[in-house]
Amino acid sequence: MNTIVTGLQWGDEGKGKIVDYLTETADVVVRGQGGNNAGHTVIARGTKYVLHLLPSGILWDGKKNFIGNGVVLDPIGLVTEIEKVEAQGVSITPDKLMISDRCHVVLPLHKELDAAREAALGDRKIGTTKRGIGPAYADKINRNGLRVADLLNEEYFREMLAHRTADANEVLKKFDLPTFDAEQQADEVLAAFARLRPHITNTIPALHKEWKDGKTILFEGAQGGLLDIDYGTYPFVTSSNTTSGGCCTGTGLPPTAIDEVIGVCKAYTTRVGAGPFPSVDEGLSQYLHDLGREFGATTGRARGCGWLDAVLLRHGCMVNGTTGLAVTNVDGLDNYETLRICIAYDIDGTRHELPPADRHAWDRAKPIYEELPGWMSDTTACTTYDQLPENAKAYLQRLSDLCDTPIKFIGVGPDRAQTIIR
Ligand code: GDP
Ligand code: IMO
Ligand code: MG
Repeated sequence: MNTIVTGLQWGDEGKGKIVDYLTETADVVVRGQGGNNAGHTVIARGTKYVLHLLPSGILWDGKKNFIGNGVVLDPIGLVTEIEKVEAQGVSITPDKLMISDRCHVVLPLHKELDAAREAALGDRKIGTTKRGIGPAYADKINRNGLRVADLLNEEYFREMLAHRTADANEVLKKFDLPTFDAEQQADEVLAAFARLRPHITNTIPALHKEWKDGKTILFEGAQGGLLDIDYGTYPFVTSSNTTSGGCCTGTGLPPTAIDEVIGVCKAYTTRVGAGPFPSVDEGLSQYLHDLGREFGATTGRARGCGWLDAVLLRHGCMVNGTTGLAVTNVDGLDNYETLRICIAYDIDGTRHELPPADRHAWDRAKPIYEELPGWMSDTTACTTYDQLPENAKAYLQRLSDLCDTPIKFIGVGPDRAQTIIR
């Protein structure tokens, strides 16, 4: 049974926690898109781990973790991350972590170009994580990117990086920003790469072998469906296909290898960065921030919070082919008296059950809400569905009905153990 775990909202749904939880009964975990713009928090046996490029299966011994070809790899960032996680007692050996030789490389210059572009956009900025993701994927599509396989050929890498740096410096000069020395940049990237070298391999046949041997494979999504370059709230999106199709193009495993698609969503909605958010709610944001919740793992930014939005979830379940939902952070609503779910948008007097493509229509989208009573009790110690308060069950059932998808997992706390199977 091979399963995709993918986010249905604007990221930070709790994918890392669900992947870590499911890894116990899996053999392989693979990431297929995104880069270290991701921040996946996993709390296991009281220890908190924050993972950016490392698949969330890394915390379990005896499991194989792959970084697939669709990921954009920042070698310097990954080495820092490995060192941090190793210092927390996790072993990261070449038989436990395999990195595709086809990954595109995020260079220091990509991060600078990312920041420069955001600054130039001013009010129209996307609010990126400034991890160089957009510029690295742009180079890939523009066919002037450098791949991990190019790092194995030092002479070629230095030569190509010199060209790429010269181009980037032209842009940076226009913004009066510091330019890059190509040799120094090459030295830094190659030094980090030396640590990663034993992990580099052709992951495609390795993953196919796991599949043919009948191993259980988990595909770990990064970001969320609404940040998908095609299906998200363009242009306020990331630069990869975050929905289930991206798992195939990003790993080399075909659609026929996939049995289940678990869509992860919070019991409410959050968004970090700019862009439309019809169901955003000041009161709910304040309430969750006062509880110390909803601050980003990668940038520390406070996430905007709002009501559950079934318009977005319906769209997400459709394009992902979701076979089951994992609803996390149910405990976040434990003490809120009246809850709302956005069931449709009113745009210029017309009811919309699915999100619009026109970016200007978002500004006029008014949520149509349904109200449900809160459960006003602590769910964090519940270990079975039956133990949940009746109003919580009714809320979850309504969500399931609106998405026409069964709920398979429920999160009632950040710890690995605080997961209920339905
Ligand atoms: P990801 O990027 O999708 O992996 O999600 P993040 O880790 O960025 O954000 C989810 C946040 O919610 C993290 O702080 C998790 O520790 C936390 N979390 C996940 N599931 C639950 C849950 O069911 N309850 C609570 N209280 N926190 C959760
Ligand atoms: P995980 O995997 C939440 C958002 C950024 C910005 C937009 C583009 O932890 O769910 P980028 O740096 O990708 O060019 O930024 O996407 N974003 C995320 N928001 N969770 C993430 O990852 C995100 N990765 C990118 O805030 O709005
Ligand atoms: Mg996150």
